[in-house]
Amino acid sequence: MTMAESNKQSVAVRHPNAVASVEDLRVHFRSKAGTVHAVDGVSFDILDGETLGLVGETGCGKSVTARSFLRLVPMPPGMHVGGFVLFHPKEPCEACAGRGCDVCDQSGRTSVACPNCDGAGCGLCEGSGRETLDLMSIPENRLREIRGNRIAMIFQDPAKALNPALSIGDQIAEVFYEHRPAEILDLAGFDPSETGPLLQRSANYRSRMPERIALGLPPLRGKRNRIRRAVGEMVAEALAETQIANPLKVMDRYPHELSGGMRQRVMIAQALACNPDLLIADEPTTALDVTVQARILELVRELQQRRRAAVLYISHDLALVNRVSDRVAVMYAGRIVEVGPTEQIFKDPLHPYTRGLLNAIPSADHERGRLVVIEGTVPELIDPEPACRFAGRCPHVAEVCLARDPRLSDVDVSHPVACFVHHQPPDVALAMPSFSRENR
Ligand SMILES: Nc1ncnc2c1ncn2[C@@H]1O[C@H](COP(=O)(O)OP(=O)(O)OP(=O)(O)O)[C@@H](O)[C@H]1O
Ligand code: SF4
Ligand SMILES: [Mg+2]
Ligand SMILES: [Zn+2]
Ligand SMILES: [Zn+2]
Repeated sequence: MTMAESNKQSVAVRHPNAVASVEDLRVHFRSKAGTVHAVDGVSFDILDGETLGLVGETGCGKSVTARSFLRLVPMPPGMHVGGFVLFHPKEPCEACAGRGCDVCDQSGRTSVACPNCDGAGCGLCEGSGRETLDLMSIPENRLREIRGNRIAMIFQDPAKALNPALSIGDQIAEVFYEHRPAEILDLAGFDPSETGPLLQRSANYRSRMPERIALGLPPLRGKRNRIRRAVGEMVAEALAETQIANPLKVMDRYPHELSGGMRQRVMIAQALACNPDLLIADEPTTALDVTVQARILELVRELQQRRRAAVLYISHDLALVNRVSDRVAVMYAGRIVEVGPTEQIFKDPLHPYTRGLLNAIPSADHERGRLVVIEGTVPELIDPEPACRFAGRCPHVAEVCLARDPRLSDVDVSHPVACFVHHQPPDVALAMPSFSRENR
């Protein structure tokens, strides 16, 4: 479904380089106590080729936001109350058939033209000429094409994401069969445009029983074996890219035979095997020890730079996000409260919550063993009042903060913030909060 079909006159694609834009997304949960406003008006862009860090304390809505990209939030109890997750799909570059050339900036992919204007630019694509899909409303079959193909996800717990009944080689092979049949045929030495339907299906992994019998007969059997060998090479290469030891041996193993770090690498290999436009990594290293964690982070960054994928990197660890992200979005109680370039967020954080989070990072300045914590707890997200959600914990809280709800506002276009210290609410005569730069 395109923007036209889903009736979104009011939505603006805000950044010309955005690969995805979350627009006023609201996902709530029904509970006995009331409605949990888990994600409550979240907006941000993910720019092409960047790593956007998404940080915030536990329960602030990071995973619900991330899972919304692939409609993985269970509904019910979840409810999509409003907003959009806009995505601009890409396709293999025609000039190089996906191998990487100057036309596609070596990424092997180019934007899909807006079907309404054929790329010329029109109102529906905000003049961008790019196809724009709302992931919250496209039909399930269209979403399936996107899931794992254009958008891949790495979860915190690889044990849950991998299939225990399939060998590592077989589960990565599935990704190639599903998403890259033309490349399989090419690597096996066939011309994908001339190969017969049986071999096409063989490279698509969806052969039915009579076809399988036909493919088992010579001379097709020899050809099918070539396809299998080609897939095997692709799988081994994908695993080798994650620098896993002995990729050929790992292919024959099952998930339970691998360590946590190895499973995480397998999941990364699987996620990147499909050449996604966007990789969503939701706390991918939390369960791992520090050395493995560092290596995994390096890997995601290396592979991302090589393939020009955008990454949404979710963590509650600000120090870690500082290392991997180009920009950072700070989330609090179902809202984005500040977004900006990583350096600015760390040098000149605007929101009192971001300042609190930064102070909570252990450093040499802090007395050993003592961690600065933000006083108070995250508010209940059940039917929240129209007030600043950080008011109960904010050292700068003023009258207006309890009466009005600050929204993300472009004080500086590249560094918006949701706090009345930085932008006075219109037509309000209540006392404004104040803070000095020293008062952090
Ligand atoms: N399936 C569900 N049913 C009911 N409530 C849910 C469900 N999933 C999430 N929530 C609620 O939504 C809110 C946000 O949860 P979410 O998992 O997005 O937090 P998070 O920021 O990812 O936290 P963490 O850092 O612990 O992973 C929480 O208050 C949680 O209780
Ligand atoms: S709006 Fe008020 S309470 Fe909210 S963060 Fe800003 S100063 Fe603090
Ligand atoms: Mg989470
Ligand atoms: Zn190209
Ligand atoms: Zn258009």
